[in-house]
Amino acid sequence: MTPDQTRNRVSYSHSSEIISSHRLSPDIHRIRFDNPILANNTLPGQFINIKVSTTNTPLWRRPFSLHNVSKEEGWVEILFRVVGIGTKMLSQYRQGQCLDILGPLGNHFIISHIYMHSGIMVAGGLGIAPFLFLSKLLLKDKIKPILFYGVKTASEFCCLDEFADLGVSTFLSTEDGSLGYKGFITDLVRDQIDQVADKQHTTMYACGPNRMMNTLGKIALAHHIKCQVSLETLMACGVGACLGCGVKANSEKLSYRYVCKEGPVFTISEIDLSD
Ligand SMILES: Cc1cc2nc3c(=O)[nH]c(=O)nc-3n(C[C@H](O)[C@H](O)[C@H](O)COP(=O)(O)OP(=O)(O)OC[C@H]3O[C@@H](n4cnc5c(N)ncnc54)[C@H](O)[C@@H]3O)c2cc1C
Ligand code: FES
Repeated sequence: MTPDQTRNRVSYSHSSEIISSHRLSPDIHRIRFDNPILANNTLPGQFINIKVSTTNTPLWRRPFSLHNVSKEEGWVEILFRVVGIGTKMLSQYRQGQCLDILGPLGNHFIISHIYMHSGIMVAGGLGIAPFLFLSKLLLKDKIKPILFYGVKTASEFCCLDEFADLGVSTFLSTEDGSLGYKGFITDLVRDQIDQVADKQHTTMYACGPNRMMNTLGKIALAHHIKCQVSLETLMACGVGACLGCGVKANSEKLSYRYVCKEGPVFTISEIDLSD
């Protein structure tokens, strides 16, 4: 199966009550929504589109990865950084208020029960968002989750306790050396890859800046490791109508691939992230 074949054909618009809203650092927030239908019908890598305002400003919904999900308790969480008008508004909602959510949208990471013994997740910055949900599913399938997580400085790390509680093996890097390896996470992956993984039985999953994912693609290729990447482009319509979310295709037939319609998860060989 390719990521393109994992698209969920059914999505729902739901008014969802906020169960909790926490500020984890000055600009990073986590919101939990009560939404049993969504919680029971989504997989890691998929995203939701949230209408952050009751007026037309901002006009478009804002997309967020499903960060954490409890089917049993019927909730879903997002983890986000305040970068502009929509995320600022989102950060100001409080417990008990309701927001309109459209989802689940997009395709999801593929987990192969047949060959996988381990899954290497590589996160840059807020690219960590989908990996708590993915770790839980890997563990459920008895596949060892390994996390490589890089940020600029130690105060930007999120959810390290949650990953530790799950027993995820974690490798950290900071660009300023304030915690973990000093440098880029891709250098740490390159250093450790021979030790941490039985490559034939591993898939690499990546989410973060395009430059990071482009470098990882090369590392994965050199080590014959399958690699899936989750892309976060600017989005407007979110449904394939405006062609605003295109990324260069690595193909002679197609110029672009569209993240909202064909992604957000692609195998690294499908796209060209070299720019
Ligand atoms: C599939 C998908 C999943 C996402 N998941 C998450 C997530 O889990 N957590 C999270 O924090 N963010 C996530 N994002 C990014 C998030 O959607 C944007 O940060 C958000 O829409 C910004 O809205 P805003 O109104 O606050 O910013 P705007 O006011 O619209 O823009 C503010 C600034 O941020 C820039 N910007 C906006 N969106 C993006 C983007 N996608 N990539 C790079 N720069 C951008 C704009 O160019 C502008 O400079 C995801 C995006 C996609 C497409
Ligand atoms: S956001 Fe409009 S086509 Fe993808």
